Amino acid sequence: MYLTAEEQAMLDGEFGEGAALAMRVLVGIGEAFDAPRMVPIRRAHVALSNQEADLWFVERMVGLGARCRVAPTVNPGFDLEYFNRAAALEAGDVEQMERTYRAYRAIGAVLNFSCTPYLLDNIPRQGEVVAFSESSATPYVNAVYGARSNRESAQSALCAAVAGRVPEYGLLLAENRRGQIVVDVKAELSSDFDYQLLGYAVPKKIGHRIPVFVGIPDTASPEALMNLCAELNTAGAVPMFHIVGLTPEAPTLEAALGGREPVDTVTVTDRDLLEVREQISQAPGQVDFVLLGCPHLSLRQLQTIAELVRGKKLRVELWINTSAYTREVAARMGLVDVIERAGGHVLQDTCVDQPIWKHLEGKTGATESPKCAYYTKRRQMNFVIRSLEACVQAAVEGVIA
Ligand code: F3S
Repeated sequence: MYLTAEEQAMLDGEFGEGAALAMRVLVGIGEAFDAPRMVPIRRAHVALSNQEADLWFVERMVGLGARCRVAPTVNPGFDLEYFNRAAALEAGDVEQMERTYRAYRAIGAVLNFSCTPYLLDNIPRQGEVVAFSESSATPYVNAVYGARSNRESAQSALCAAVAGRVPEYGLLLAENRRGQIVVDVKAELSSDFDYQLLGYAVPKKIGHRIPVFVGIPDTASPEALMNLCAELNTAGAVPMFHIVGLTPEAPTLEAALGGREPVDTVTVTDRDLLEVREQISQAPGQVDFVLLGCPHLSLRQLQTIAELVRGKKLRVELWINTSAYTREVAARMGLVDVIERAGGHVLQDTCVDQPIWKHLEGKTGATESPKCAYYTKRRQMNFVIRSLEACVQAAVEGVIA
């Protein structure tokens, strides 16, 4: 693999041991994928998980003196201040989050603690080379913005942020971004929630191929596309797709396919969406709690929730995850107040897959997110999966249809 003089010096330790470790990881990945060279990045997003392996790696990098050349945004852990007050946390959980916070601050990350930076403060332009981990973020920047990112891990994205470059392979190259299989969407997509089900249904039909969707309206909202991305890359490993007439590399079906014939065409119907919902959801009925915002909800979604609960009293706990930026604006607009008066909680910096939900273990909740239900299985949380509106109604009534 060709390295510039600066890259070789970095690898040899002339920029410090931390940068050298980052380069060793990147060169290793590059050689595994036959990358001919490195290319610079201007953006990165690290899917910090606040879990042991993630913490081990970032602390090791900090210990070796690593500092980011490109400040990456980072995923949520949990809001330490809030949960220290509100929940009986074990000392080890608090210490782990504190260490995560300290390590990412020391390495020079942007401490946004959100999994939707691509809707807020880390928005690449078309053609820009970036290093994004996080399941919804990687396909969103690739497909919706037309930026170029491989499906990074938290660690490879952190190495890219430290070194300021990535090996050039995979989705950084135009020929690997072409669509391979056509997904003809016959299902009616009448709400953002339908995109959750679509994203969960499609990977089983397409395997490891880049899908080209036809039949998705060009009015699909940012939240609908966020949902689609999150589920495509959770139910499968789909870091790139095209939507004809909507995403920038797909003005036409021919352009999305790069002038080639598709290997196949598959169809998604209303029945497919219903079947996937039945497969992954608990049976409807009484719920003990409602957990929303995996990925983090947008301001528009918080507005919807506030209108649904305005002047009401919730029967069961309602937990809403969003970014600190969104929460701040929602608070200024009085939305947080409306939700809290009803008895709900609007959290910032927090992920559904954290050790703060112990009081919900063994219980059944409602969520709008198949990804939430998938990740929290290991925390013994069970979910009925329905639309955002139906989940909020369930928080009001304690029961979901
Ligand atoms: Fe975000 Fe955590 Fe879900 S990072 S997408 S809330 S699993």
